[in-house]
Amino acid sequence: KKFSIGIDIGGTNTTSGIVNRHGEILVEEHIKTADYATPAHFVKAIKACLESHINHFGRDEIKGIGAGAPNANYYTGEIQPAPNLPWKEVIPLRQLLEDAFDLPATITNDANASAIGEMTYGAAKGMKNFIMITLGTGLGSGFVANGQLIYGHDGFAGELGHVIAVRDGRLCNCGRRGCLERYSSATGIVLTAHEMLEASTEDESTMPENWLLPIYKGGAEITSSGIHKAALEGDPTATAIFDFTGRILGQTLADAVAYTSPQAIILFGGLAKAGDFILEPTKKYMEENLLSIYKNKIDIIPSGLSERDAAILGAAALAWE
Ligand code: BGC
Ligand code: NA
Ligand code: ZN
Repeated sequence: KKFSIGIDIGGTNTTSGIVNRHGEILVEEHIKTADYATPAHFVKAIKACLESHINHFGRDEIKGIGAGAPNANYYTGEIQPAPNLPWKEVIPLRQLLEDAFDLPATITNDANASAIGEMTYGAAKGMKNFIMITLGTGLGSGFVANGQLIYGHDGFAGELGHVIAVRDGRLCNCGRRGCLERYSSATGIVLTAHEMLEASTEDESTMPENWLLPIYKGGAEITSSGIHKAALEGDPTATAIFDFTGRILGQTLADAVAYTSPQAIILFGGLAKAGDFILEPTKKYMEENLLSIYKNKIDIIPSGLSERDAAILGAAALAWE
């Protein structure tokens, strides 16, 4: 068989595509996840997007479907209730996909799918030990050790987004306090921006180098890409926001390194697009906090694949297994 289907399910967007064995995405379709009242309607919409392509490539040439989603479990084929998804029940996604498409389906955690994508086609090609970090609405992670993705006893290994980065810190959607994703993600950096901007005075808002502050005081929405733009303009608050975000991430990564002794850490996702603004402080604070046996050995590198592609390719690669 020549093709497989990869689906990346996110809180905001869902992308599906048909992929060949060389990791080329031949067609790509997008829908808004929250537009569908139930998971069944959602799966029906994905099918509607792909149906004509499937007929075009030939149903008999399609090996199967792979899908990545927050809180998805490779073993059970279900999605546990995820704060970043619109539906609050347990979703039997594998079954829904198999019934709708009449093809075998495999599902896994979205960050795990990205790790497989990077390992097969991207920045982690040839690496046997690395940690994948996705910096989107939440923070996802996938651990590859000794050449294998770690699933753990019941399939939920590698939830670095919900390790405590700050004791008694910000309240997380998961109900705990101080989780890493409340600080280092597209959502977390905005929370940091609000805290820092709230602490500034009106006077400061007239200083020409302050780019974010007048926007904030004027009541406009602060986004992670807005913070990136401000940093490019030389806004000192934006630089401080990135430094703090990278500090919390770097310190937590220094601990994560102790679990699997990776060769590299790969950063991917919306916030990773801020490039050196996030990369530099993350590297600096990780290095400062590493145990000496790990020092100066671990690279932090941006994804080798474009936005979304890692997750789709990884999901599609699951279908080949
Ligand atoms: C979820 C993870 C997911 C990550 C990125 C976290 O909040 O718990 O399962 O991988 O967000 O979507
Ligand atoms: Na994971
Ligand atoms: Zn949490």
